[in-house]
Amino acid sequence: MRHFLTDADLTPAEQAEVLQLAAELKDNRYNNEYRTLLERRTVALLLDKTSTRTRFSFSAGVTELGGNVVTADSKSSQMGKGETFQDTGAVLSRYAAAILWRTGAQANLEAMVETATVPVINALSDDFHPCQILADLQTVAENKGGQGDGPLGIGGLNAVYLGDGANNMANSYMLGFATAGVNITICAPEGFQPEQQFVEKARDRARETGARVTVTEDIDVSGADVVITDTWLSMGQDPSEDRSVLRDYQVNEELMATAPEAIFLHCLPAYRDSEVTPGVIDGPQSRVFDEAENRLHAQKALLVWLLR
Ligand code: CP
Ligand code: NVA
Repeated sequence: MRHFLTDADLTPAEQAEVLQLAAELKDNRYNNEYRTLLERRTVALLLDKTSTRTRFSFSAGVTELGGNVVTADSKSSQMGKGETFQDTGAVLSRYAAAILWRTGAQANLEAMVETATVPVINALSDDFHPCQILADLQTVAENKGGQGDGPLGIGGLNAVYLGDGANNMANSYMLGFATAGVNITICAPEGFQPEQQFVEKARDRARETGARVTVTEDIDVSGADVVITDTWLSMGQDPSEDRSVLRDYQVNEELMATAPEAIFLHCLPAYRDSEVTPGVIDGPQSRVFDEAENRLHAQKALLVWLLR
């Protein structure tokens, strides 16, 4: 039995297997051999933070696998009143085939897996958003597959993430893209760069795959195959902190013109005219709605891989 708490919880070969399965499930969405995999089974979805895509993509995906999702937010479950994560993990394992949890501290997830006897999946924490990265890699493979090497044909491609480099997405891009062998550059100003522990973790993985993990203040997307950004204010971050230095890192038409072959990705929700201009996110290089759709396919593949 395996959990998926960080992008490193799948080896490079396993990640490629999940992504190949995601592509197959997308091609054959309703009539595939896994459509009854979760028949009469329930998946628990715990949301301590708000969500649109995660809530609906997991709910739809589990339905398409023949199962049922029960969702609870932190206020409506006893965890909100102090029931331990360990007790909750033990109890939910008696009812559910898997536990999906969007929470704050990564340590919360680590506490739950002490007792959970079914797979626990990180549906976003303060440190990582690994399900999103599977969807992003699926989108990269759809658009750029074959231009690189490795099982998905994306190894050795170049991705650049600009903006808040000290959030969950930046950490997961480093770790998840390094796992896929995709070179990843985090382009962020001082004070908004990833913690060294996350850079090191990604570089450990990159040593296995040959990917490069770079952190820089310099804004340069020339030669990029993928340009990415995310909100400048993530859930749980302090809104009173001065984040104006991020303005230089906006993804706009002028910047994208220097990466004419690149696709643009954003995990969404997006804030137009902050981290990205409407001309980019609604423009010809954007693949953000395919990326959002791929949450569903990639997560179905992950569930199948963990539960079959
Ligand atoms: N990208 C993503 O996880 O979106 P939600 O916050 O809407 O779930
Ligand atoms: N970094 C964002 C991602 C939202 C899906 C946040 O944590 O709010």
